[in-house]
Formats: sequence, structure tokens, C-alpha cells
Amino acid sequence: MKILAIETSCDDTSIAIVDCQGDLNNLQFTVLSNVISSQIKIHQKFGGVVPNLASREHAKNILPVLESARRQAKMSYQQIAREIDLIAVTIGPGLIPSLLIGVNFARSLSYFLNKPMVEVNHLAGHLYSCWLSASQKNYHFKVEFPLVTLLVSGGHTQLYYLKNITDIQLMGETRDDASGECFDKIAKILNLGYPGGPEIAKQASQFKSSMLNSKFQVRLPRPMINSNDYDFSFAGLKTAVLYLVEKLKKQKLYNASIKKYICFDAQEAVCEVLTYKTIKLAKDVKAKTILISGGVSANQRLRQMLKEKTEQKLPQAAFYAPEMNFCTDNAAMIASAGYINFLEGKTTNWKKVDAKPNLRIHD
Ligand code: KG4
Ligand code: ZN
Repeated sequence: MKILAIETSCDDTSIAIVDCQGDLNNLQFTVLSNVISSQIKIHQKFGGVVPNLASREHAKNILPVLESARRQAKMSYQQIAREIDLIAVTIGPGLIPSLLIGVNFARSLSYFLNKPMVEVNHLAGHLYSCWLSASQKNYHFKVEFPLVTLLVSGGHTQLYYLKNITDIQLMGETRDDASGECFDKIAKILNLGYPGGPEIAKQASQFKSSMLNSKFQVRLPRPMINSNDYDFSFAGLKTAVLYLVEKLKKQKLYNASIKKYICFDAQEAVCEVLTYKTIKLAKDVKAKTILISGGVSANQRLRQMLKEKTEQKLPQAAFYAPEMNFCTDNAAMIASAGYINFLEGKTTNWKKVDAKPNLRIHD
């Protein structure tokens, strides 16, 4: 079946057309198109997403994005009307002004094209982006249960345990800031661009220990790394960076090399905590597969650390990360989660579809 999926939960307007085949044990996804219109340039000057601006941009971009998705999939209007079987839309979690644009656009399409709809949880979209990646050419990975997945994005940092593809248990999450949010806030303190994650990764990759005076010995905290649970906390790390920068500026020690070091150590701190807790859960549940997803899963250091620690600590398990273009927000992942909902019989009528900004995975 062909699914037309719509994602507008934050600052990316995305529409995808995905051919979905198979059952829950053998999912096959062919992405015919996955168009993403980013609003980074608009929000950059504010150092974060401004909800009302995001909503305006979604409203402006959604039709051109549909048009691009149709063209990329090489489908005529008649084919869209005839061949699309289901419309999937993100209903939450996210910013209500943003969500409403996608939800109402999807409802209108469903009404006029007379197609059933499926509501999709954005977090399930991230989670299943690994299955979407698994069906891509040259991207071989085999998912075996039990499975542990770390979902790391701008709004969430959560650890899930999956007994099978639809039995999802939340085992731990951040008590304050999400890991992506921590990168974004640290980047703002350091006067780097938005979104902060890629900027911090870039600065960190340029750091060499020879850049620092040997007397400079500062190490950022690794919050909650030894707590006896699967939870996280990143607000303190951001505050530690804020105080450190203020102190270094007063001492006239703050310079470009120290800034690169702060990025390097902040990235190490976030990746170490994320890796430590993920491996701890994977060991406790005897996981056969470890996955990551969400915007922060694009981070190469996090991928490397998780891969190395999985090989060292759980040699019987395998670690996989999604394709790079399925890490940050995109509608193809919403189609994959929508198909899984469809296989579970969760289609609905456009009249019942509504945005739920605080949606959780079991709601
Ligand atoms: O999943 P996503 O696109 O949106 C949400 O659902 O939040 O994630 C966006 C987050 C931002 O906080 C951004 O800084 C972070 O993902 N991010 C990264 C990288 N690319 C994006 N963090 C670290 N390293 C990256 N390469
Ligand atoms: Zn997301």
C-alpha cells in the first residue's frame, strides 16, 4: 500500500510518499519521496523555535512541499487520488500551532480524496525510523528482540525496552532538558548557531589537546551517570557550561581553543551518559539489539561510542543507527509508524483526528 505522510510537529514541514509492504515481522518500506522544508534560517536568529513563526511557515510551505513530494514520487494528481491508500499524520507530541497545520491539512486531504487516516505519534516515528532504514538498499540490519532503543531529540531523551515490535515499555527518560536541547542551549551560551548539536560536533572535531595549556584542567560533569536507574538530567551540564564561560571570561582566559574544548567535553559528557545508561539497560534486559533514533542520533561520536561499548560489553548484541536522513524530523518515518498502526487496525476517520501536543507513547 502507498501512504502519504505529513509531519509538522516542530520546525520542519515534511511530506513523504512511502510504499509499505509485509507484516509486522517482515516490514518493507520503499521511500518514493521524502521532502523536508527546513525553517532553520528563520528561527536561527532567535536561538530556538518560535511557535507562531513556525506555524506561519508550515501554512506557507505545506502545499509546495506536497507538490514536491508528488513530483519526487513521479505521480500525477490522478495517481495521487487513485493510488494513495492511507494518510498518516503526526498528531503529537509537538508545538500545538505547528501540529494543527499538518493535522488540518491531512484531514482536508482525507476528506476530499476519500482516504482513511491514521494518527501517528512523532516519537513512534523516530523509533521506527530504524525499521525504515533497515529496508533501504545497502543498509543491512537485522532487528532481533528483546531490543533496547535510545530516543534522543530536541524535545526528548528516553530509553525504551521492546519485547516485540509493538510491545514498547518506557524504562527511563530525562528529568529536565533533553540531550538535543542541552546541545542547543550550550551552543547559545557559546554563541554558536542553531540547531546546536551539529555546531557543537563540528567545533569538537576541531579540538586537539595540544591547543590547551597543560595547567588548564577543567572537566564538565557527567550528570546522573552513576544513578541506579535509567533516567537522565542535562540541565546541570548546561548550567556548568554557563558558569565556566562566565568565570573564564572574567579571568580573560576565554578564547577560540577553549571554546572548542568546551564543545568537545560537553559532547563527551552527553555521549558518555547516554551510552552508559543504554548499555546498562541492554545488559539488564539481555537485549539482542540496541538502536538509537532522533535528531541527536546523527551525532557521529554517539554512534561510535555506542558501537564500541556494545561490542565490549554485550558481544552477543548488535548496534544499529538509522540512515542519516531519517534521524532528524521527516515524514518518511511517520509513514513507517503509520503503517505499523494500520497493521494493528488503528485507522480512523478524519472527523476524529486531533492534535495532542503532550502525547506520550502509550496514550
Ligand atoms: O528529532 P529532531 O529533528 O527534532 C525533535 O523532535 O526535537 O531533533 C533535533 C535535535 C536538535 O536539538 C539538534 O541540535 C539535534 O537534534 N541534532 C544533533 C545533531 N543533529 C541534530 N545533536 C548532536 N549531533 C548532531 N549531529
Ligand atoms: Zn523529532
